[in-house]
Amino acid sequence: MNVLIMGYGKMGHEIEAVLRERGHRIVARIDEKPGLGDATIPTEKHLTEAEVAIEFSQPPAVVPNAKLYAKAKIPAVVGTTGWKASEEEVKRIVLDAGIAYLRASNFSIGAHLFFALAEEAARMIQSLPQYDVLLYEIHHNQKKDSPSGTALTAADRILHALPRKKRIVTEKLDRKIEPDELHVASVRGGAVPGIHTVLLDSEADTIEITHSARSRKGFALGAVLAAEWIIGKKGFLSVEDFIKDLFLKGR
Ligand SMILES: NC(=O)c1ccc[n+]([C@@H]2O[C@H](COP(=O)([O-])OP(=O)(O)OC[C@H]3O[C@@H](n4cnc5c(N)ncnc54)[C@H](O)[C@@H]3O)[C@@H](O)[C@H]2O)c1
Repeated sequence: MNVLIMGYGKMGHEIEAVLRERGHRIVARIDEKPGLGDATIPTEKHLTEAEVAIEFSQPPAVVPNAKLYAKAKIPAVVGTTGWKASEEEVKRIVLDAGIAYLRASNFSIGAHLFFALAEEAARMIQSLPQYDVLLYEIHHNQKKDSPSGTALTAADRILHALPRKKRIVTEKLDRKIEPDELHVASVRGGAVPGIHTVLLDSEADTIEITHSARSRKGFALGAVLAAEWIIGKKGFLSVEDFIKDLFLKGR
C-alpha cells in the first residue's frame, strides 16, 4: 500500500522501518520541522497517491491533519496522544467526510493481548473468592506520569470483569486494603521501557501475567497492521475495532 507518514519523529522513524520491512511504499515523510522529512506539509500529489496516512505527531497537529485527510478522502491511523479535548471536532470532520479514522493511545498488539488475558483471568476468578488480584508496573526514571495509561486500562478491564472489585487505589496505603479495592502500584527507575504485571494470588499459589515492552517497535507494528486493516473501512474507529478482528482471525 502507498502510505503517507505524518510526523517524522521517533515513532515516524519506527513506522518507516516497519513499512519497509512489510514491503509497503512510502509516499512521503511529512514533518513540520523543516529538513526533517521530505516536506513540511503534504502536497496535492502526496494526498492523491496516498492510500492511507499514519500519524504520530503532536496534539495541535491533529485537527488540521484530520481536515487534510477529509478533503483528500484518505483513511488515517493516528497514534498521537493528548488531544481528548478535540475528539468531538475530529469525529465530526471524519463522519462528515465519510472517511475512516482510527485513533489509539496504545498500538502495541502485545499490550492488547495482555489486556484481554488480564480481563479473562479476572472473569475466571469471580467464582473463586480465594483468589485476589493486584497490578504493578515498572518504568524508566524519565516517565512523568503514574500509574501508566496502560496500567489504568488493564485495571479498568479487570474492574469491568470482576464485580467484587469496585475501585482502583493507586496511592501509598497506610491502612489495610479493602476487599473491593484493586491496588495498582508504580515503581520508577533505570531505563525499563515498561513492565506491567497482573498478579492473581491465593494462599496456595500465585499466577502472574506480565507484559514487558522491549522497544517502540511494537507500537509501530500495531499501527502499520491497523493501516493495512483500515483500507476500505469507514467511521471514527477505536483500536478495539481493529484488535477484535485481529484476534478473531486466528480462530
Ligand atoms: N499510540 C501509541 O501506541 C503511541 C506510542 C508511542 C508514542 N505515541 C504518541 O505519538 C506521538 C509522537 O511520539 P514521538 O515519540 O514520535 O514524538 P516526537 O516528538 O519524536 O515526534 C513527533 C513529530 O511530529 C512532528 N509534528 C508536529 N506537528 C506536526 C504537523 N502538523 N505535521 C507533521 N508533523 C508534525 C514534530 O515535529 C515531531 O518531529 C506522541 O503524542 C506520543 O505520545 C503513541
